[in-house]
Amino acid sequence: MKIDHVQLAAPEGGEDAARAYFSQILGLQEETKPAVLQKRGGVWFRGPEIAIHVGIEADFTPQKKAHVALSVSDIEGLAGRLQDAGYPVRWDKALPERRRFYTDDPFGNRLELIASADGFLPQQGRALWQAVDSYFEAKLLQSDRHLEQALESSSTAGLPRWEVSPLQAQFLAVLIKATRTRRVLEVGTLGGYSTIFLARAIPENGTVVTLEVDARHATVAQSNIAAAGLQERVEVIIGAAARSMEQLVESGVEPFDMVFVDADKKSNREYMRLARELVRPGALIITDNVVRGGAVVRDGQSDEDTTGVRNLMDSLHMDATSLSSAIQTVGSKGYDGFAITVVL
Ligand code: SAH
Ligand code: DHB
Ligand code: MG
Repeated sequence: MKIDHVQLAAPEGGEDAARAYFSQILGLQEETKPAVLQKRGGVWFRGPEIAIHVGIEADFTPQKKAHVALSVSDIEGLAGRLQDAGYPVRWDKALPERRRFYTDDPFGNRLELIASADGFLPQQGRALWQAVDSYFEAKLLQSDRHLEQALESSSTAGLPRWEVSPLQAQFLAVLIKATRTRRVLEVGTLGGYSTIFLARAIPENGTVVTLEVDARHATVAQSNIAAAGLQERVEVIIGAAARSMEQLVESGVEPFDMVFVDADKKSNREYMRLARELVRPGALIITDNVVRGGAVVRDGQSDEDTTGVRNLMDSLHMDATSLSSAIQTVGSKGYDGFAITVVL
């Protein structure tokens, strides 16, 4: 057995709204209904591997829970088009390996969109970025038992897959070597994956201080860092990062050469302000995840993470005491980017 078509319901007169939604936004083709069925109203749509029939129901109520889940190759693009047209996009991160969100059709029926695992065009978009990342990883990185074990124990402990990609982590290591950085402050530890790269790149007498609010994440990180033999160089501080940074300022801690900001995005501006108090002139401050699939420029995108990125950018705008750039990235983590600031 397999699915022949999916039937959704709409209130009377809903055909044009259905066309605007299923044809123009979702990209399905309208299919002419058989003549004998036309007088009932409604409208049919078809894509390469799916048929959706929208039927008219006299006393219609939207389906709030029951829903169809559509597998799509360009989930980020679709999320953007839906948002631009004023539809909700509720990302669900409960399954870290499946990028997916919920939305509503024009009639309030819930729909789920899931990034297709294989992709309709396998060598395009995300799949191609992934393949290129795999190629560079194979050429430029060494396979490493401690890093693999760190990811495995993070996964066993149920931590989310928010760590930087291996090549991004190695990029941070390159920056450390190029700037002869000795002291690094990391905001957002998770399971310590990025921390291990940072700690390995600094000299033996260097230090990474890493800040984590979630005690469970911090515990996993501490054990991963110890297993990699780096506990002498790393200090994990548990608590809200802004408070920990204030305490570091108050304690007159030795200035840092580099800061990697990778925690709650809503606090990015605050982390930049505090980082500036904790570094020497010439220090680099790198802020992860400033693109977020293009959310930063999308009208109608006003979640606190996106607002946090914009607040950071507003604070850097025309700032004569620092010099910044932002680089968009694609790869195994999808479409995102980082900002890099040097303190003058
Ligand atoms: N740098 C890590 C990934 C960090 S994910 C790596 O690349 O491997 C973001 C982390 O920030 C999560 O562990 C989350 O618990 C933590 N976090 C969120 N809000 C925070 C806060 N207010 N203070 C400190 N850490 C926070
Ligand atoms: C996600 C990615 C990150 O790099 C991060 O710091 C937090 C969340 C994510 O993919 O959701
Ligand atoms: Mg990040």
